[in-house]
Parts: sequence; structure tokens; C-alpha cells
Amino acid sequence: MRALILVGGYGTRLRPLTLSRPKPLVEFANKPMLLHQIEALVQTNVTEVILAVSYRAQQMEEELVHEAKKLGVRLIFSHEPEPLGTAGPLALAREYLCASDDPFFVLNSDIICDFPFKQLLEFHENHGKEGTIIVTKVEEPSKYGVVVYKEDGKIESFVEKPQEFISNKINAGMYIFNPSILNRIELKPTSIEKEVFPSMAQDGELYAMELPGFWMDVGQPKDFLTGMSMYLASLRQKHPEQLHSGPGIVGNVLIDATATIGKDCRIGPNVTIGPGVTLADGCCIKRSTILKAAVIKEHAWLDGCIVGWRSVVGRWVRMEGTTVLGEDVIVKDELYINGGQVLPHKSISTSVPEPQIIM
Ligand code: GDD
Ligand code: MG
Repeated sequence: MRALILVGGYGTRLRPLTLSRPKPLVEFANKPMLLHQIEALVQTNVTEVILAVSYRAQQMEEELVHEAKKLGVRLIFSHEPEPLGTAGPLALAREYLCASDDPFFVLNSDIICDFPFKQLLEFHENHGKEGTIIVTKVEEPSKYGVVVYKEDGKIESFVEKPQEFISNKINAGMYIFNPSILNRIELKPTSIEKEVFPSMAQDGELYAMELPGFWMDVGQPKDFLTGMSMYLASLRQKHPEQLHSGPGIVGNVLIDATATIGKDCRIGPNVTIGPGVTLADGCCIKRSTILKAAVIKEHAWLDGCIVGWRSVVGRWVRMEGTTVLGEDVIVKDELYINGGQVLPHKSISTSVPEPQIIM
């Protein structure tokens, strides 16, 4: 089987991280977001993954090619000369998607869950119509595509980012389609949510399958951290051996084997520590992600932060409030940072008491 992953957006909501790496390559729980998805697809017998790229394609190719080899999956890069939205890329990849009569998967690249691709395929084959989308329940549906459907799953209407409340069931960003969907899509910038789903629903060709378990769009810092907590909780259920334990470790904590942890640290709950990271003595870290090769100096205190690659956080620093440090940022000793978004390669020497972007 085949799958197409939409990896073309600019990822502006995940800045400053996406100033250094395309969103799908940002490590979520110590693995590029995209790899979580590709691995799950491979487990469902997908042998060919088409990456619909419009931006930073080269960096993506370089980093993913050897991962794909390891997994034994063929990666095809479908380059868009201009961003084609969420449907146009399907038309661009027509020759691959229509190479057989098999249905194919389509995924947004910034979502995380226990990908239920086998169930999705079964559900889709059972109703026999053109497409199935996975839906999940959220508290703030206005940020998403909202779906109204009957008990058997038949979708009656699909409204992208509605102004008024319609339902709390939303599009989770994972689909399976028969190749005939290509008859509805032209090769031009097109939104699948606004221009294709509404008409499929009207024709009775679109079904919804409810997602079991957790789900999050991790394309914004706050949701990234919430999604990480959910993911670690799910890891606790399924692969507790991958989580860390021991003195000073509280709750669900993932630490790469190449990280160095000092004495008397308190880590957790809900922390991910990447490869080559150094935590000096007496650090306290909660609900945060520390990316590759960052250094956290003595007695720093972090809650609700993402620390970018190779950044350095000084002694006795206190950071909270969804602070995001871009790549290679330096925070001098003893500062307080609350909700700062710090652009790559900056050095900060005064406190940031209120949320702001530091460039
Ligand atoms: N190739 C390509 N070209 N990909 C694109 C383009 C483009 O021009 N524009 C966006 N994408 C990719 C993004 O990288 C992402 O993987 C996916 O399409 C969806 O774009 P987002 O920008 O993340 O959309 P959203 O989060 O506002 O809304 C979408 O996701 C929600 C679930 O998280 C919609 O599909 C909603 O209906 C859905 O509820
Ligand atoms: Mg998104």
C-alpha cells in the first residue's frame, strides 16, 4: 500500500524551532515527528510513502533517506514548485497514487496519536465509499475542521475552522481514499478541507471513524508539550521499559542514553531529554522538552519549556510559561524567563517577566 504525507506548510506556529528545522523534522519524544508516522505506516504494510514537500525539501531528503532504508520503505519526494495546499499535492502525485486500485492513506504531518491504520483500512473497506477520515473529540473545535456524522459514520457536513459551534468532533488529519478521489482534484492550490470534503460529504462518499486513545496536533508549542505528556502516558501503558526511573525521576520521563545527568536533579513529570544533552547538578525540570546537545547549568528550574538544539541555560535560571528557545540560544545566569520565544543564536542577559518574542 501507499501513503502520502503532507509536509509542506511553513510551520510558522512552531517558531522559533521551525526557523532551524522544518516542522516534520522537529523531534517529538526524541524522534522526528514524521518518523513516528512513517514507522506506524510501515507496520501496516505500507511500502511506499510519498512526501509532499514545498519547502526545505533538501534538508528533509538528506535526513530521511537513511531512516527509510533502515525501515525498508521507499520514500518518494514530490516537490511542489509552489505550495499546493492540502489537496493539490494529491493531484501532483497522481501517477503514484493511481498506480493501482488500492486505497491509499493521507496524513497531516503534525499530528500524534496511536495511529490506527489497520482499523482505518478495515472500516473503509466495510462501508465501500470513496473516503474515510479519522475524527476525534476536542474542547476547542474552532481551531480545526469540524465533522457532523450519523451513527454509522456517514458524514453529513464538514466545516473547516467554523466561527460558530457545530460539534466537538473534529478532523484528526488522517485519511484513506480510493484513487477515484483524484477525479475531484485539479493540479492547482486547493484545500482538501474547504473544497473537497464538503462535496464528498454531499455526495455521501465520506465516512468518519472515531479515534481510540489520545490525539494532538503538535504544531504549536503549548500543544506540543500537551501532546508530549499524552504520548509519554501512552508509552507508560505500552512500553514502560522505554521510560526512565530512579532517584530524582518523577512520573513519565524519557531520557536519551547519550544524555549526561548531574547529581541531585529532579526530573519530571512529563519530560523528554534528547541525545547529548547535559544537565548539571541540582536542576529541576518539569513538563519540558530539551532538544539535542542543549546544556542546562546548575540549579536551573524549568517548567513548560522547549529548549532548542545546542542552547545553553545558565545557573539558577528560572524559565516557565511555554518558553521556547530556538537553536543555539544562550540564557545568562540567574535570569527569569516567562513565556519567551527566543530566536536562534540569541544571547539573553536580562530577565523576560512577560511573554514576548525576543529577536
Ligand atoms: N505539501 C504541502 N503543501 N503541505 C501543506 C501545505 C502545502 O501547501 N500547506 C499545509 N500543508 C501541510 C502541513 O504541513 C500539515 O501537515 C498539513 O498540511 C495541515 O496543515 P496545518 O497548517 O497544520 O493545518 P491545521 O492544523 O490548521 O488544520 C488541519 O489539521 C487539523 C488537525 O490537526 C486541517 O486538516 C483540519 O481540518 C484538522 O482538524
Ligand atoms: Mg496542524
